[in-house]
Amino acid sequence: MKIIIINGPNLNLLGKREPDIYGRQNFEGYFLQLQEHFPDIELQYFQSNHEGAIIDKLQEVGFSHDGIVLNGGAFTHTSLAIADAIAAIETPVVEVHISNVYAREAFRHHSWFSANCRGLIVGLGLKGYELAIRSFVK
Ligand code: DQA
Repeated sequence: MKIIIINGPNLNLLGKREPDIYGRQNFEGYFLQLQEHFPDIELQYFQSNHEGAIIDKLQEVGFSHDGIVLNGGAFTHTSLAIADAIAAIETPVVEVHISNVYAREAFRHHSWFSANCRGLIVGLGLKGYELAIRSFVK
């Protein structure tokens, strides 16, 4: 089984970025833990600060992989183009947000992605990625 985690803008700064909101762990370390946790899954990780690069990656993996875990960062609230890419591909996408976006500013309450995703996990910290991966396992 092949699953990819795609993180959007500023998520490369996890651990350093607003730690009171996003925690103190960097994603590279957490990803190693995930790989140990799911030894039977081929887990991949991709991060980009660029909208087009995220669309390119969704198109690249979206007809071959078994699942995509997507935290689009701020693009969640702005990018109709990524929403269209999610709709265009066959691989199911689970949307993840580390923070509880519904307890934050109003502009974070709308996601262009959710309607095109299989499911949505918000506000559970990095644990949300693990739960999203688990949701793909039969
Ligand atoms: C985020 C929430 C977004 O509103 C924000 O722009 C992010 C991170 C989260 O994981 O909580 O960059 O997606």
